[in-house]
Amino acid sequence: LSSATPALLPKRDDDLGTFVHAIYRAYRYDFRNYTEGSMRRRLRNALTYFQEPNLDRLRIRVLEEPQRFTELLRFLTTPTTDMFRDPIYFRALRQVIRQLDPRDTLKVWIPCCGTGEEVYSLAILLFEEGVLDRTLMYATDPNAESLRAAEAGVYTTDRLVAFKANYELSGGQSSLTDYYSAGYGNAVLDRELKRAIVFFDHSMVSDDAFAMVQLVSCRNVLLYFARELQERALAVLSDSLMPSGYLGLGLKESLRSTTFESQFVEIDRDARLYQKP
Ligand SMILES: C[S@@+](CC[C@H](N)C(=O)[O-])C[C@H]1O[C@@H](n2cnc3c(N)ncnc32)[C@H](O)[C@@H]1O
Repeated sequence: LSSATPALLPKRDDDLGTFVHAIYRAYRYDFRNYTEGSMRRRLRNALTYFQEPNLDRLRIRVLEEPQRFTELLRFLTTPTTDMFRDPIYFRALRQVIRQLDPRDTLKVWIPCCGTGEEVYSLAILLFEEGVLDRTLMYATDPNAESLRAAEAGVYTTDRLVAFKANYELSGGQSSLTDYYSAGYGNAVLDRELKRAIVFFDHSMVSDDAFAMVQLVSCRNVLLYFARELQERALAVLSDSLMPSGYLGLGLKESLRSTTFESQFVEIDRDARLYQKP
């Protein structure tokens, strides 16, 4: 746990507060400041799945049977996504990449990479912009199961229609079929894309910044966090950015009303792209 970031105390002293606090102590996963509505909805589904009547019983079960914790994580985090999700974001990012100094080595961090769709989308974009061979991509997530899927880079072919539509809308310069091989109902992302990517376990909530990068793409996770946790995660992201570095958020997220609003320049409001001065 970072010594620079003070531990947040649970605000509520009830079944949910006790539950998330116990998970934090036992497994280092900090859900203490996730929004209550979204946590209760997720835990209702978990109760059905585990066939437990209430959170106290679920807590005891998950503490007694650590292997169950991985199953629980499927409910508490949202790993699913699409390639080139929100094409407007990737369009804007292409412009940003074109403005970078072509002599620089590029470092990119995707701090909640989930099952990898966003990572491979970025790798394809960087390849098409001619910079992938001098880029190092850090793809991290606290969910080990998601990370394994991300590293494998295998997606079922029924998802390709949506992926291709997004790719075209994002300004894709080729055909998505150039980047995977398909067979037996699966599409396997090209090994060449994977060479630029390092996958590892990291939580923005409990771990520190670990590298200085020019781009942090952290999409569709801050919206699950309550205000204090957003601030804490944003501090880690900001600490990781070099001067003039870029921060990309999800379309339902923004720096508005956070302490970081005044510390970044909004370079594309619709695409949620920010730049550190
Ligand atoms: C909806 S997915 C987003 C995936 C990808 N960024 C995208 O937009 O396509 C949310 C991811 O955030 C991850 N996550 C949840 N809490 C996190 C934390 N404290 N630190 C880093 N990632 C976290 C989850 O494990 C999940 O994989």
